Amino acid sequence: MGIHQTPAWQALAEHARQMQRIHLRQLFAEDPDRFTRFHRRIPGLLVDFSKNWITDRTLALLMDLAVAADLPARRDAMLRGERINSTEKRAVLHTALRRPRGASLLLDGRDVVADVHAVLDQMEHWVEAVRSGAWRGYTDRPITDVVNIGIGGSDLGPRMAVHALGAYAAKHLRFHFVSNIDPTHMARVLEVVLPETTVFLVASKTFTTQETLANAHAARAWFLRSATEADIARHFVAMSTNTEAVRAFGIDPANMFGFWDWVGGRYSVWSAIGLSVALAIGMEGFREFLAGGHDMDTHFATAPLADNIPVILGLLRVWYRDFCGLSSCAVLPYDQYLEHFPSYLQQLDMESNGKGVTHAGVPVQYATGPVLWGQVGTNGQHAFYQLLHQGTSVVPCDFLAPRAPLHPLGDQHRMLLANFLAQTEALMRGRTLEEARQALRHLPEAERERLAPHKVFPGNRPSTSIVYDRLTPRTLGRLIALYEHMVFVQGVIWDINSFDQMGVELGKELAGALLPELVPGAAVGEHDASTAALVRYLRAEDDTPAGD
Ligand code: F6P
Repeated sequence: MGIHQTPAWQALAEHARQMQRIHLRQLFAEDPDRFTRFHRRIPGLLVDFSKNWITDRTLALLMDLAVAADLPARRDAMLRGERINSTEKRAVLHTALRRPRGASLLLDGRDVVADVHAVLDQMEHWVEAVRSGAWRGYTDRPITDVVNIGIGGSDLGPRMAVHALGAYAAKHLRFHFVSNIDPTHMARVLEVVLPETTVFLVASKTFTTQETLANAHAARAWFLRSATEADIARHFVAMSTNTEAVRAFGIDPANMFGFWDWVGGRYSVWSAIGLSVALAIGMEGFREFLAGGHDMDTHFATAPLADNIPVILGLLRVWYRDFCGLSSCAVLPYDQYLEHFPSYLQQLDMESNGKGVTHAGVPVQYATGPVLWGQVGTNGQHAFYQLLHQGTSVVPCDFLAPRAPLHPLGDQHRMLLANFLAQTEALMRGRTLEEARQALRHLPEAERERLAPHKVFPGNRPSTSIVYDRLTPRTLGRLIALYEHMVFVQGVIWDINSFDQMGVELGKELAGALLPELVPGAAVGEHDASTAALVRYLRAEDDTPAGD
């Protein structure tokens, strides 16, 4: 029986029809305890989900759905290392990357936690050498610039975390991230670094990714214009699972930091892929980051479903997607340090749950992963919030905010928080026509009546507030792991494999076939008329001026 055929699903569908008529204003007016019942706290974190389209019954029915999908057993299977990545027949053990030293977890008879800590120790050795200046470039100068070359999970996680933890970062090291195959990306970085004081971190789980290998080769060719092959060892390291490909590229495996096939790319910032993060904040900070992830794992593994924050928030996503018909959700951090968090979460969420068939390969009969997007506040307020407040699409929003600033500056942190609170309140409450007229009472009646409809806000727009004490490595670890587990919860309900990414393959294959066809004079393969014409146009064989 598919999840949509269970009594729990059908009860939720019926309940959603009843909830349609209720405004959040009414729910708050009728229930002074609404916040008390619909928020949860763990140390350093408060999650307020009271401004969502829920009642006690909604939550109870969502919990029934979780039980119907066997969520606790599926969670335990992941944490135990069962091969829940069904298509690739792999374990999914990013949680093992954050288990403390001395814990143990056997996978095929091998203690993966011991392996994890051996790599962390190797990282520590190198990271401290670079940070202290003991590791020197080929002209005996200390390292000043770190260039991470990677894409997807080998870029978004480290880039986001290095930025997020900027307050704790070594000031004598500059960090650069090159991901795009667009040569502009590498060229712009090479303009500002020197070969003798730069280390390149080539980050690729598979070490076969076209963009990363092309960029790494470009960096190497640039480096060899000033240095020799023998100098490569001091300036290129790799983070990968593929020792042979690393060697073939010309990096000595002694300068490689390994990880394992049970770490998904978008879950890999906790592994050696986080080397740039460790370089930025030091190993002590990196271990704190891991401990934050482990805090959330422990909560996810042990808290009862109704108190389990990733379970509640993951189920709310399912509620909006499948029962309320909402197809997107926004993440809006009121924290400049989390500038790259929404784009990091896009890969985490959309590459995991943008799936259309169940584990058994049967097309799903319900909607799966929503479109996730967002930007920091208050910037977004001056860009797309108009649509959030008055547009015809309802977008559930996650607001994130720190209680304390990392850079106190006059009254600005309080101004930031006032804006965060105001947005959640305005989205929830809205403004009625009568209230709009009241606000315009100083105007002549005709003018008031003309303008009032434009100043109506429907309200009843759901949001969740995630408030943390201040952004530390540990807090960031908790936040990322929270979202990882939310993604997992949704994938379990939808019975999809959240841990493969076959939807990225077709484009890669076609790009491989198209590459030689872009050479002027080469044969153009079998394509639709649009693609074939574009190939010719890009080859400059069609010189009809644009616009004609
Ligand atoms: O294109 C998808 C993808 O496989 C992502 O899942 C992954 O994070 C990215 O490419 C990079 O892969 P790799 O780390 O193997 O270079």
